Amino acid sequence: MSGSSIGTLFRVTTFGESHGKAVGAIVDGCPAGIEVSEADIQTQLTRRRPGQSDVSTPRNEADQVIILSGTESGKTLGTPIGLLVNNRDQRPGDYTEMSQVPRPSHADFTYQMKYGTRASSGGGRSSARETIGRVAAGAIAEKILQEWYGTEIVAWVSSAGEHDAPDLRNTGLTREQVDGNIMRCPDAASAEAMIESVVSARDAGDSMGGIVTCECRGVPAGLGEPVFEKLEAKLAQAMMSIPATKGFEIGSGFAGVRMKGSEHNDPFVQKGDHLGTVTNHSGGIQGGISNGESIVFQIAFKPPATISQAQSTATFEGEDTVLEAKGRHDPCVVNRAIPIVETMAALVLMDMALRQKVRET
Ligand SMILES: Cc1cc2nc3c(=O)[nH]c(=O)nc-3n(C[C@H](O)[C@H](O)[C@H](O)COP(=O)(O)O)c2cc1C
Repeated sequence: MSGSSIGTLFRVTTFGESHGKAVGAIVDGCPAGIEVSEADIQTQLTRRRPGQSDVSTPRNEADQVIILSGTESGKTLGTPIGLLVNNRDQRPGDYTEMSQVPRPSHADFTYQMKYGTRASSGGGRSSARETIGRVAAGAIAEKILQEWYGTEIVAWVSSAGEHDAPDLRNTGLTREQVDGNIMRCPDAASAEAMIESVVSARDAGDSMGGIVTCECRGVPAGLGEPVFEKLEAKLAQAMMSIPATKGFEIGSGFAGVRMKGSEHNDPFVQKGDHLGTVTNHSGGIQGGISNGESIVFQIAFKPPATISQAQSTATFEGEDTVLEAKGRHDPCVVNRAIPIVETMAALVLMDMALRQKVRET
């Protein structure tokens, strides 16, 4: 009802505001007997945390997760898992001059219109700090998918501003390769150009958008619930729920419209012990159901809204004003979005895996 939960059987609810005491999640429906430690969850949270490099916000948060409930002796009990991350480096004072001026293209105006009030600092729940709860919950989902099916989910930055990396889909990229540079673009020359652009946008008090590509390998055939809960529809919803997303495409996506059916079809072929496809323009999903090929999708992220450059806008009262936003902000969000995309994909796949198991029993 309030929009803070996702999933049917593997159900995750996040809580917490950007400059409040803490953020986190409740994971309900996690199977019992799964080994889960804080260290398992921490890896993805550490990849998401701010203050890591020149191309991210300098807000310094360790983002150490605490498992409050739902496990004993390192194993899940089948009861709700409470995950908590304390906020430490809050600076609500950074937002005083913005209390009268809704930031253009941020969520200040719409939250105010909806609730008649809003968190006074840093966007409250519209802030990317909310994603900590999802990442922590999704890290558990990733671990289970890996154990059950050997599923590997790897996302990387494929574009930033006007710089496009070569197509690296289907090349077996690893997270280690993705983390090889601060931009999380595994093509070194492209990464260098991207970093230069992000740093100069930041120095000019501006921001930049980009594209994240994600590949989910080792997803069994049969996940997804047609008709209204098609797997690509659930993935699109999950990805478009990440702050600053502006586009989602699966497989060939928008480029597919330029192909003929004869080029676009993915012919079947026997691959070892199962039937696979020669090409993967479908992006691993047909009829809303996974076909056993890699699930491949891309997400467009806008240039973040909070920029320190002077911008003509209006106050809540409708008076013309000029806003020079303070605070510590990301000049480009794609590199930090990588673990968010991966763990959101895991949440969707985990929920669908449990739903398929119910059908099979
Ligand atoms: C990892 C990440 C970091 C972000 N950092 C910022 C930021 O520093 N400043 C900002 O204005 N927006 C940032 N955003 C985006 C805003 O949270 C988002 O644009 C805002 O809530 C409005 O929502 P919408 O863009 O989805 O409409 C970030 C998003 C992500 C995914």
